Amino acid sequence: MDIIINNKHILLAVSGGIAAYKSAELVRLLRKQGATVRVVMTHSALQFVGMLTFQALSGNPVHTELLDVDEENAMEHITLARWADVLIIAPATANTMAKCSHGLADNLVSTLYLAATCPVFMAPAMNQAMWNKPVTQENIQRLIGHGVTMIGPEPGEQACGETGMGRMSEPAEICRLLLAESTSQCLKGLSVLISAGPTREPLDPVRYLTNRSSGKMGYALAKAALKAGAKVTLVSGPVSLTPPEQADVFKIETAEQMYEVVITKAVEHDIYIGAAAVADYRPVFLETHKIKKSLEQTTLTLQKNHDILADVAMLSSNRPFTVGFAAETHDLERYAQDKLIKKNLDMIAANWVGQDSSNALHNESLGGFDSDQNALQVFWNEGQKSLAMTDKNNLAEQLIGLIAERMELKSK
Ligand code: PMT
Repeated sequence: MDIIINNKHILLAVSGGIAAYKSAELVRLLRKQGATVRVVMTHSALQFVGMLTFQALSGNPVHTELLDVDEENAMEHITLARWADVLIIAPATANTMAKCSHGLADNLVSTLYLAATCPVFMAPAMNQAMWNKPVTQENIQRLIGHGVTMIGPEPGEQACGETGMGRMSEPAEICRLLLAESTSQCLKGLSVLISAGPTREPLDPVRYLTNRSSGKMGYALAKAALKAGAKVTLVSGPVSLTPPEQADVFKIETAEQMYEVVITKAVEHDIYIGAAAVADYRPVFLETHKIKKSLEQTTLTLQKNHDILADVAMLSSNRPFTVGFAAETHDLERYAQDKLIKKNLDMIAANWVGQDSSNALHNESLGGFDSDQNALQVFWNEGQKSLAMTDKNNLAEQLIGLIAERMELKSK
């Protein structure tokens, strides 16, 4: 599923239709993408799905009452409306849409709609004849005119046995559109410099030291940053991936070549993300001829490379918001926190690499090097967030969202 970043507060309002059961899956999908979800329900929605289902899936209490005496100020609708980055009414019944389109506020859902200042989405669901009724269509046009984004409905077989327009869109589709819409362009006007892939440290004309990085994580970040509206510069080690067309690309081989490009470009960018697996050391001697295997044992003398990330983070002027990665085989949090502080970073995204003892160096299913999937534990000075195992493109979008969120907070 091609989903955009998310660390958003999503308020899901469930009104009373048989499609309410699909909204339970929607909560699960939204949370999987990193959103925090709170749920409100109309009394008729409670006839279809119990509160406990939504409470368990969202991890938050579910609200059903407009004036809740148990709440401190009994003004839950205002508190919730201000909390939300996005309000989605799913399913949106003909009745709820009619109320919202005319400004009625006689239950928690219609009142929330009226109180909301965030973007509002509705996923209609109803019998095909109700959908086709001119008054329903008029109400929908009024809502669209008021800025509501409609998702669906879809044609097909309906729960009542009839066939036609009115099925609620599938949760995965709602999730995709919702997150794309709600989080897009979060880096609009900003520039992002990203390093990706491995470096190669030559030993002789035919051999080099390198690592297992495929560049997938860094390239996914470049795509996600472009999608979020940023201007992107990608500094890439040797990989077999095609860079995104809109990115400005610098191809390098060695860590020192990567250093030269990054350190020059960093001051021109708002954000630097070091996703590359940079060699810490390079051979001191580069043999001009192929090394011969005449000796039983031999020794390589290595010289430390520049720590590109640390040098960017230490820039005294025009320093970009600096995000590092940490690839760890053990004590992930300790090492990541240590790098965050010692390298003076704004944020660090830590991932496990080589953690499967049966195939310690390379395991597709567990993320990290060369896998299409990954999971990240992200740390910054005041907090941390886990981004669950998912496709690297999804993960990159979540990380970009988190970076945008932290930058906004930092500049406040
Ligand atoms: O490319 P993939 O196959 O998709 O795999 C993704 C990844 C596992 C490579 C990626 O998610 C990742 O973890 N990248 C960082 C790998 C790494 O070098 O980690 P590290 O803990 O050794 O380094 C910490 C940070 O310092 C990194 O941001 C690294 O880019 C940076 N560094 C390291 C050494 C050096 N000389 N200069 C640096 O800038």
